[in-house]
Amino acid sequence: MELVEFSPDFLNDIIAIENESFPNPWKEKMFLDSAANRLVEFKVAVENGKTAGYCLFWVAGDQSEILSIAVSLQFRRRSFAKQMLEYIIGRSKEKGAQCVFLDVRAGNAAAVKLYDSFGFEKTGIRKKYYPGAGGGEDALILRKKLK
Ligand SMILES: CC(C)(COP(=O)(O)OP(=O)(O)OC[C@H]1O[C@@H](n2cnc3c(N)ncnc32)[C@H](O)[C@@H]1OP(=O)(O)O)[C@@H](O)C(=O)NCCC(=O)NCCS
Repeated sequence: MELVEFSPDFLNDIIAIENESFPNPWKEKMFLDSAANRLVEFKVAVENGKTAGYCLFWVAGDQSEILSIAVSLQFRRRSFAKQMLEYIIGRSKEKGAQCVFLDVRAGNAAAVKLYDSFGFEKTGIRKKYYPGAGGGEDALILRKKLK
């Protein structure tokens, strides 16, 4: 797997992965706006010429925030998310971040397990943050200290 810079050539593949990965998927414009934001790093995971996943994050001051990370269904459980997280953590350190933050759906067991294995800790809850049945689902705010 290699991580390359986002280009619009990847957009259709990314939208397909996004739609299979999230109950409230981002639309094209959100990806294009993020790509146009020079503060955001937007990387695409490519395996044998196929788009396997992507991640977006940014460092603001001494904090890094993961905006999104997803892996195509056909490439899951092959350590691609793990490699993307390792990249994000390394780049965040280089850019002077003291910690990495992210939001995750409380019911997203795969992602919660992934972040747990990296030593992320729960620092807060946004109640009913994600739209859905029963009035919505809570978001967990997770943080990993880098120093
Ligand atoms: C969460 C997600 C990114 C994981 O991607 P992945 O490439 O399959 O993950 P990896 O292979 O790198 O897994 C690393 C570790 O995470 C945990 N993990 C990943 N998927 C898991 C699952 N389905 N169930 C339980 N643990 C899981 C395991 O600890 C795993 O280590 P192991 O394989 O040695 O047991 C992927 O399932 C996905 O794209 N989900 C939809 C989008 C999403 O939820 N993104 C995160 C939003 S915050």
